[in-house]
Amino acid sequence: MASPSQPPVSRALNRPDHEFDLKLRPGRFADFVGQSRVRERLELMVEAARGRGDVLDHILLCGPPGLGKTTLAYILGEAMGVNVRASSGPVIDKPGDLAGLLTNLERGDILFIDEIHRMQKAVEEYLYSAMEDFVIDIMIDQGPHARSVRLNLQKFTLVGATTRSGLLTAPLRTRFGMTARLDYYPAEDLAQILLRSARILNVDIEPDGALEIARRSRGTPRIANNLLRWVRDYAQVKAGNRITRPVAAAALAMLNVDERGLDEMDKRILETIIHKFGGGPVGIHSLAVSVGDEPGTIEEVYEPYLIQEGYLQRTPQGRLATERAYAVVGAVPPGRQGRLF
Ligand SMILES: Nc1ncnc2c1ncn2[C@@H]1O[C@H](COP(=O)(O)OP(=O)(O)OP(=O)(O)O)[C@@H](O)[C@H]1O
Ligand SMILES: [Mg+2]
Repeated sequence: MASPSQPPVSRALNRPDHEFDLKLRPGRFADFVGQSRVRERLELMVEAARGRGDVLDHILLCGPPGLGKTTLAYILGEAMGVNVRASSGPVIDKPGDLAGLLTNLERGDILFIDEIHRMQKAVEEYLYSAMEDFVIDIMIDQGPHARSVRLNLQKFTLVGATTRSGLLTAPLRTRFGMTARLDYYPAEDLAQILLRSARILNVDIEPDGALEIARRSRGTPRIANNLLRWVRDYAQVKAGNRITRPVAAAALAMLNVDERGLDEMDKRILETIIHKFGGGPVGIHSLAVSVGDEPGTIEEVYEPYLIQEGYLQRTPQGRLATERAYAVVGAVPPGRQGRLF
């Protein structure tokens, strides 16, 4: 088992590589694979806004890292034919910074704020009137000369992205006209993404090879693309430059990426619940202390995938390991102990 100080594979493989992300990032709805419900809703909003000659409503994009939030923000900009100005919650640390961003927007422009849950409260409060009435009141001077000046803004669209929607304040959340939640991708969608990426990167890959990588990508396009990069190198050195299914499997075995797409952290969570807490139920805080990570990260980055894939159940008493989890850990579920079959 990896030591807690070592980042798990999915973190390392899900780290954004700006240049690479940009190269493979689809620029239009037509190239954005999967997430059909979210995509259809967004496309409809765009069509309606364009039809009225209006500005797009504010949109909040939620979901675990690497599923396409930033990608969608730029696709929205392209579809609306407007500029996208990007910033992120922790970077905007003074109300003045926000005022600067807002006053530079033209009508219809998209202000994309990544990690919007990490914005400071004092800054966030200025955003409320900006989103609602397209004005911002800023204080100038100090002491007896202090006064508030109202700046009128162009009507703009705020697109916020967050991996931690639970941390958003209610006043901010309610100011978005639409909240879109991205889910993990099924392997078939990831395989399609991989075939497209392979075309862009000029990599020779068989559909079966793509599916093999897809199955091990933890439902995440960014992980899939990063694994493709590794498998491409492997194929180049060891397998005549062509990615077949066995080549993909051999390359990924070298990385210790599990056939089920689970990484060390996923396994550490399941092992901890089973071995230290008798299979659960265990509260998120005790679990977090035991595995050495933040409760919020476990809840919003690891748990959703484990729950979706049926390894974990969330009950009012806490987290419960399922039979599938026992199979991963190689332990016998309590109900089965003492039985031969
Ligand atoms: N639906 C999709 N179709 C094709 N490629 C996708 C899709 N979604 C994501 N990708 C690819 O995955 C990469 C990561 O996506 P993106 O940067 O949009 O994720 P994110 O949700 O913003 O992640 P983070 O939370 O880490 O910022 C993109 O560069 C793109 O190549
Ligand atoms: Mg992003």
